[in-house]
Amino acid sequence: MRILVTGAAGFLGSHFADSYLSQGHEVLGVDNFYTGHRSNINHLLNNPNFEMLRHDITQPLIVEVDAIANFACPASPIQYQRHPVQTIKTSILGITNMLGLAKRLNIKILQASTSEVYGDPDISPQVETYWGNVNPIGIRACYDEGKRAAETIMFDYHRQYGTQIKIARIFNTYGPRMSLNDGRVVTNFIGQALRGQPITIYGDGSQSRSFCYVDDLINGLSALFDSPKEVLGPINIGNPKEFTILQLAEIVKQLTNSNSEIVLNPLPSDDPKQRKPDITKANTVLGWNPTVELRDGLVKTIDYLRTQI
Ligand SMILES: NC(=O)c1ccc[n+]([C@@H]2O[C@H](COP(=O)([O-])OP(=O)(O)OC[C@H]3O[C@@H](n4cnc5c(N)ncnc54)[C@H](O)[C@@H]3O)[C@@H](O)[C@H]2O)c1
Repeated sequence: MRILVTGAAGFLGSHFADSYLSQGHEVLGVDNFYTGHRSNINHLLNNPNFEMLRHDITQPLIVEVDAIANFACPASPIQYQRHPVQTIKTSILGITNMLGLAKRLNIKILQASTSEVYGDPDISPQVETYWGNVNPIGIRACYDEGKRAAETIMFDYHRQYGTQIKIARIFNTYGPRMSLNDGRVVTNFIGQALRGQPITIYGDGSQSRSFCYVDDLINGLSALFDSPKEVLGPINIGNPKEFTILQLAEIVKQLTNSNSEIVLNPLPSDDPKQRKPDITKANTVLGWNPTVELRDGLVKTIDYLRTQI
């Protein structure tokens, strides 16, 4: 297959490209380098099966490919809130352009959706049938409502034109190639611990998150991408093991041998109190389960981020 990977210079897109290139497929990477980095794809530039195109997916794109994986979208709050209009345009116009291409070529398309479609959930763990609790006019709405609308457009293309769609709802993922300054909790804590700065927690640290190591995540996404055409999703892909933010801070401090103190700051608005995927569907439909323990994944992430400081 020749696979169009949008957001290929980003964290997840570059790992997804690596995975399919290593299986002998061709990859056409597309990115506008808004949050992506050349360093994430440098190792691919001499690969004859890899091609990179600078392009913004809010604009139409006509290329010949056999499948599409749509990762393009800033993913961390400080990045998606910096240009909220561009963020929601990327989600809505971007996926519409990609679906138009998928329809024209009659090919499958994978959408990197997010656990943020559940908003600040009233139930835990979150199962795919839960419709979410999202503030449509809040500061996170450009991202979570954008992703919700993208899922709607995916299903409308499927129902109206029979387009082969696959939707993954990705939960917090971490690993090498995350950007040090992306404001996500794992990179914040590791960066602060490695620099000997205070480790800042927003709120009292009792809010919980689940963290999925990138290799596990890519295995889950690939299982969905390669699944029979009847499997549309949405399917949660994430690690259901829950940790409080305070626990994460303590583990990071220990693994980095840091003397940083842990300090508490006010909680930003619309910050979800809990996030934990129900992955029964991924397990039964795709036969997928995450296997990497948080401490093991964090060691690899710390090794990578140390090289970035
Ligand atoms: N990392 C996570 O924990 C996580 C969780 C849930 C969902 N996701 C989703 O996965 C996808 C990838 O996330 P990531 O963590 O790799 O983020 P990232 O910021 O590292 O990668 C996103 C990439 O998309 C590119 N991009 C942004 N807008 C674009 C546009 N209009 N046109 C072309 N390229 C554009 C960026 O330059 C970047 O390279 C996103 O869609 C995100 O919503 C990620």
